[in-house]
Amino acid sequence: MIVAIDGPAGSGKSTIAGLVANRFGMAKLDTGAMYRAVALAALERGVALDDADGLAGLAHEVEITFAPDEAGALHIRLDGRDVSREIRTPRVDAAVSLVAAVPGVREGLVVQQRRFAETCDVVAEGRDIGTVVFPEAEVKVFLTADPAERARRRVLQRHGGIMPADESAFDAEVAETLAGIQERDRIDSSRDVAPLAAAPDAVRIDSSATTVEGVLDKIAALVDAYRKEAR
Ligand code: DC
Repeated sequence: MIVAIDGPAGSGKSTIAGLVANRFGMAKLDTGAMYRAVALAALERGVALDDADGLAGLAHEVEITFAPDEAGALHIRLDGRDVSREIRTPRVDAAVSLVAAVPGVREGLVVQQRRFAETCDVVAEGRDIGTVVFPEAEVKVFLTADPAERARRRVLQRHGGIMPADESAFDAEVAETLAGIQERDRIDSSRDVAPLAAAPDAVRIDSSATTVEGVLDKIAALVDAYRKEAR
């Protein structure tokens, strides 16, 4: 069984996908982390961000794997090296949308994503999961949230979930993050290949108006309904 969760940056996909995976004993696949790993490899190896052939070559050549640590948190490995932290840096943030817009990069990673789902039930999250990677997914969700709320969450996450004492510095960071998020949304939604889009059969959930538990319950109900029907 495949649960596809698509949506823009900061809509809560990763958190929700992890919770759904835990609840149903499925594997979580963070496809954004895979695009980030290729962007990191390009930056480290000096492959120019406008060198489509070079980037596509990298995406086919690198080995990306996921493994849990003792606490159960998933770590991503690029050719065996744990890069979980490196893929979340501002320089990767700035490069990843360009890398993800290269058709050859997407082809390489989609092959790896489909292989991942061959042997187990998967909750996959990204931008094109329900439309391109797994159009046959049994449950499809398109998770949205108000852009300002998405920026606020990203900054709060950066501060370990704690509201910093200096409110005006916090607001400035949110404004800067919002600009970055809007720019990434623009690139991700307007690219030619596999743009960020809801599949026609996806259930739309707005996470700015719902708690994490509320979103989880809605998706769990979709999974339960599918399973009941399939029995
Ligand atoms: O979800 P994220 O912010 O980690 O994603 C990083 C980038 O990768 C983002 O710019 C969109 C892109 N991406 C994509 O194009 N297709 C996916 N399935 C997942 C992510």
